[in-house]
Amino acid sequence: MAKTRTIFRCTECGSGSPKWVGRCPGCESWNTLVEEIDEPRTASSSLPHVAAVSINAVIPGEAEPRTTGISELDRVLSGGLVPGSVTLLHGEPGIGKSTLLIDVAARWSATHGAALYVTAEESAQQVQRRAERIGAMNAELYLLPETSLGGIVAALDELRPSLVVLDSIQTVFDPELSSAPGSVAQVRECAHRLVRLAKDRGLTVVLVGHVTKDGAIAGPRVLEHVVDTVLSFEGERHHALRLLRAAKHRFGTTSELGLFEMGERGLADVPDPSKLFLTDRRPGLPGSVVVPTLEGHRPLLVEVQALVAPTQLMQPRRSAQGLDSSRLAMVLAVLENRSRVSVVNCEIYASVVGGVRLVEPGADLAVALAVASSAWASPLSPDMVVCGELGLGGELRQVSGTARRLAEAARLGFKTAIVPASAPSDVPGIELRRAATLEEALVRAGLEPLPTIIRQRRGPLGEDGF
Ligand code: TYD
Ligand code: MG
Repeated sequence: MAKTRTIFRCTECGSGSPKWVGRCPGCESWNTLVEEIDEPRTASSSLPHVAAVSINAVIPGEAEPRTTGISELDRVLSGGLVPGSVTLLHGEPGIGKSTLLIDVAARWSATHGAALYVTAEESAQQVQRRAERIGAMNAELYLLPETSLGGIVAALDELRPSLVVLDSIQTVFDPELSSAPGSVAQVRECAHRLVRLAKDRGLTVVLVGHVTKDGAIAGPRVLEHVVDTVLSFEGERHHALRLLRAAKHRFGTTSELGLFEMGERGLADVPDPSKLFLTDRRPGLPGSVVVPTLEGHRPLLVEVQALVAPTQLMQPRRSAQGLDSSRLAMVLAVLENRSRVSVVNCEIYASVVGGVRLVEPGADLAVALAVASSAWASPLSPDMVVCGELGLGGELRQVSGTARRLAEAARLGFKTAIVPASAPSDVPGIELRRAATLEEALVRAGLEPLPTIIRQRRGPLGEDGF
């Protein structure tokens, strides 16, 4: 019998190293190497030989996507799941992966024939209870509580489904391999075998992958190269909103965003998210600004709020929720240095309403005006939106898709928009107020300091060189 060797393998990217090192030589992550048995990889000489074909002679395959019956998922997948493809859905525990996929499997089995849901973590009863609760019951949906790859393949041979969901890939193992279940070698080898099976049989495979912060289970990054599509399911634990994005998609664009709301009866599509985000808004509140943001191709209107409060603290608090804190620091520095707004001795809380994360620079101006509006206790007009990137010189820059963003704002009844001077020509239904600088934007937005609020006023504009 061959002597077993051990190797230190990165749980993030799968790179191997003969000895333990603190930093992975492959992806440079810290403390991600774990000791494993070195499994011999399948020799490439044993793979079947395929002849090269002229590009003109390639026979079109069955690469047409099939609808999943869930419109937000179809949107992200550019139409649906492609036969013979392998999709990895990853996200933190409890985000709703199993809830989404049992629904997908049930709908699939009702329209495209038998679907197999392999539950390697929960019992069949648990999955059945969830399916009942969300109305995902169908006789053609089969459950298999199994963790061994051999058992799963046997069930696939017997049932011949057109879709298999594996929940989760990290708990499936091949007893023929000597590595422990959940190790990088196990996850990678099991995924490789499933990919081959999918391609050979035209079987649609969906794998669930957990993301753990400490990387104790093999990170899904080792799988990203193997699969056709990588979907990430995100959201804040305390919010019902869930965002679905494609990080990789061999059959379409990766720029679509899917939105769901987790409720009593599972996940519901959110076809008009802007409306959802603005439902609880109190118009006329100082510190509240609506920004038309772009998530991939999808325009979303979200509310940015800021609260500025005086403090005696030497180091006033700065809190950013749903915003990048270093971006907030930059916006505050630009406000301080390039406008009449001064917030040096104030605590500042800035947040995005509804559990969305605004990381694009197009939200800079909205954050700046929200802070100014709160500092000056001066509200913006309730039917105004604000959009633009802020430069360090206080200048405003246009962001991508401005026309699409403004069209969405107009659709929802907003009447005016503060935009950079270079913004595209008119958008029907909304009046554009152009501003070249942050200071001009303050004026166009009608923001004026209340005399009692100003604690430290700078000289008039132009005196200090801007
Ligand atoms: P689940 O799909 O088990 O998450 P994952 O597979 O990603 O770990 O969903 C878990 C959470 O979703 C759980 O906290 C309960 C909640 N949930 C609802 O709020 N409504 C529902 O109808 C269902 C099925 C789950
Ligand atoms: Mg689950």
